[in-house]
Amino acid sequence: MDRIKVVVTGGAGFIGSNLTDGLIEKGYEVHVIDNLVAGKKERIHADAIFHEKDIRNLEDLHVIMEGAKYVFHLAALPRVQFSIEHPVLTNEVNVVGTLNVLKAAHEAGVKKVVYSASSSAYGDQSIMPLREDMSAHPISPYGLQKYIGELYCKLYSEVYGLPTVSLRYFNVFGPKLDPDGAYALAVGLFLRLRKEGKPITVTGDGTQTRDMTHVRDVVRANILAAESDTVGQGEVMNIGSGKNHTINDLAALIGGPVEHIAPRLEPHDTLADNSLAKKLLGWEPQVSFEDGIAELKKIFEINS
Ligand SMILES: NC(=O)c1ccc[n+]([C@@H]2O[C@H](COP(=O)([O-])OP(=O)(O)OC[C@H]3O[C@@H](n4cnc5c(N)ncnc54)[C@H](O)[C@@H]3O)[C@@H](O)[C@H]2O)c1
Repeated sequence: MDRIKVVVTGGAGFIGSNLTDGLIEKGYEVHVIDNLVAGKKERIHADAIFHEKDIRNLEDLHVIMEGAKYVFHLAALPRVQFSIEHPVLTNEVNVVGTLNVLKAAHEAGVKKVVYSASSSAYGDQSIMPLREDMSAHPISPYGLQKYIGELYCKLYSEVYGLPTVSLRYFNVFGPKLDPDGAYALAVGLFLRLRKEGKPITVTGDGTQTRDMTHVRDVVRANILAAESDTVGQGEVMNIGSGKNHTINDLAALIGGPVEHIAPRLEPHDTLADNSLAKKLLGWEPQVSFEDGIAELKKIFEINS
C-alpha cells in the first residue's frame, strides 16, 4: 500500500526531527522543509525526503504540499531574545511564513495543519496553572508572533475551511536538543556548560519556574492531533507536563557549580493546565522531568 504523504516544516530542528522520526516509525512518507538556518541535516531521518527551502517563499511550498494529507508546521525562529533584537526578521518567518504555509496547504487540499504554538503567548500571568481561556499577553515579539500564528490558523479554519489545530508547547526538552549557540535554551545550555566543566549560568535568583515537557510527549500530541477526527477547527490547547520546576532545581539535577547572572525579561512562572488536551485528544504526558534529564545526562556522558 502507498504510504500517506505528510510534510514537516522545520523538520531539521530539535522538535521537528523527533517528529519526523515518530512519523516514519508510524509508516508515513515524510517530506521535510527546512532552510537549515538552525536545523541540521544530520538530524533528519535517512528515510525522509528533504527539501532545503524557505517558508518565506510561497511558490516553493506549493509543489511540496501537493498530495500531502497533513502538514506539521514547526519552522520558526523560536528564540525570545533573538526576536527582541530582530523583530522584523522574526515576524517574516514566524508570521508571514506561517501564513504562507496555511495558504499553500489550503491550495494543495491538505486535510489538516498542526501548528506548533507556544506557551509564550501567555506572557507573565499571575494565575497558575495557565488555561487556554485566559487572555494572551505576550511580552516578546516571539510570543506575539506565535500567537498571531494561532489566530491565522483559526481564521484559515473558519474562512477557508482548512482544518487546523494549535498546540501550545511548554519548554520542550529531550534528545536532539541544540546545546550550542548564543540563544541555546536552559536545558541544552546547562548540559553544555556542565560537560565543559564550566559553572551553570542561572539568570536571576533561579526561583523562576518552568513547565518542562518531554519531546516524545510533544511528538505524540502532534500525531494524535493530526489523526483525531474530533479536532481541526482552530482549537488551541496546552501541551505541557502540568508540573513545574525551578531553574535552581534544573541546575541541581544537572549538577556542578552554579553562577547567577543578571535577570532578563521573562515570565516568572509557567505551568500548563493540560486537561483540554486530555479531553480532546486523550493525550497525557508520559515522560517525567527527572527521567528526561537523566536520559539527557547519559547522552551527554555526564556521570554524576
Ligand atoms: N523548544 C521549545 O521549548 C518550544 C516551545 C514552544 C513552542 N515551540 C515551537 O516549536 C517549533 C520547533 O521549535 P524547536 O525548538 O524545534 O526549534 P528549532 O530552531 O530547533 O527548529 C526550527 C527549525 O525551523 C527551521 N527554520 C527557521 N526558519 C526557517 C525558514 N524561514 N524556512 C524554513 N525553515 C526554517 C530551522 O532551520 C530549524 O530547523 C517552533 O515553531 C517553536 O516556536 C518550541
